Amino acid sequence: MAVRKLVDDVYSVGAIDWDRRMFDELIPLPDGTSYNSYIIFGNEKTALIDTVEPEKKEELINNLKTLNVRKIDYIITNHAEQDHSGSIPDVLRMFPDAKVVTNAKCKSFLKEFLLLDEDVFIEIKDGEELSLGNKTLKFIFTPWVHWPETMSTYLKEDKILFSCDFFGSHRAASHLFVENEHRVIVDAKRYYAEIMMPFRTQIRKNLEKIKDYEIKFIAPSHGPVYQKPEIIIKAYEEWISENTEEKVLIPYISMHGSTKKIVEHMTDKFIEEGVEVIPINLITADVGQIAMELVDTAGVIFATPYVLAGAHPAVVSTAYLANALRPKVKVASIVASYGWGGLGVKQIQNMLSNLKVEFVEPVLIKGYPRAEDFKKLDEFVKVFSNKVKQGGVV
Ligand code: FEO
Repeated sequence: MAVRKLVDDVYSVGAIDWDRRMFDELIPLPDGTSYNSYIIFGNEKTALIDTVEPEKKEELINNLKTLNVRKIDYIITNHAEQDHSGSIPDVLRMFPDAKVVTNAKCKSFLKEFLLLDEDVFIEIKDGEELSLGNKTLKFIFTPWVHWPETMSTYLKEDKILFSCDFFGSHRAASHLFVENEHRVIVDAKRYYAEIMMPFRTQIRKNLEKIKDYEIKFIAPSHGPVYQKPEIIIKAYEEWISENTEEKVLIPYISMHGSTKKIVEHMTDKFIEEGVEVIPINLITADVGQIAMELVDTAGVIFATPYVLAGAHPAVVSTAYLANALRPKVKVASIVASYGWGGLGVKQIQNMLSNLKVEFVEPVLIKGYPRAEDFKKLDEFVKVFSNKVKQGGVV
């Protein structure tokens, strides 16, 4: 049970999920997560902002009982994904007169996902306000953070932005507010990388939109509440900018040691060139780690052995992920070790069609690398480093 006061008449009543280790069966959660829900007591009406993952509904309901909540008039739904909307039916059973307040798109999703009837909804428009008496909610449509229907809700009198997934972070923690600024930015970067990165253009518009509001607290639906909103807004501005770091990510797999030798050699050479290099063995890497590095890396090199007449499936899967995440990478290439042939290079190159990158000529090495192969790799690293240092424009 975790009822925590945000300001007078505004409480956090969501659930802390200490044990969850995977989200969407894709994203590792090394530190668990939280599904934040907030209750706002106006002197006339009471509103609940978002609910929780259905598995944790008892926690939400117990928190409402702890606060002795006698009525909920509005269930404000910022986002239809079930980790925030999934307990709406349970809250409606407890408070049958409550109305689900959301936008048209979110409403259509909720009808499909939760089988809710039309008459439980109040549909609102972008910029519309809803009075709770002495408190006023204003709805700000912020699409694509994370889905197209996602919106934020601004509590005018207390200057709190309830931003749902926007600015969120995955971590189970007992404190309500940010206590460790460095850690929350790392957590939020991981979260941004995993689900927001493909929508940078939209996020830029959303950041512009919220600039019109004086914000004292950002209360997302995962992770702690920011009492200094500027730290996370500044971090987002950097992540969505076109700036990259002089860094090269090398996701790789090695079956019999040849690719590993190639990657180790390239790593040493990048260090000599003064370029940060991050070789990631895909056997032990998690998706979040790769996504996080893709947020600001200038270069990526996929290193793979050939197997089954193509690139290794783990490298193919990482290339697919990189393409789907649409990072601002500027330079890319492929280095492969083959036994008798295959089409791995073309296969990976074709998978990266979403990336606006300059491709450096790949290096293909037959078997274990020999002296002449190391020379080729040295030249490759030199060319790649120069492009990375100049942001991909050589
Ligand atoms: Fe936290 Fe997109 O749901």
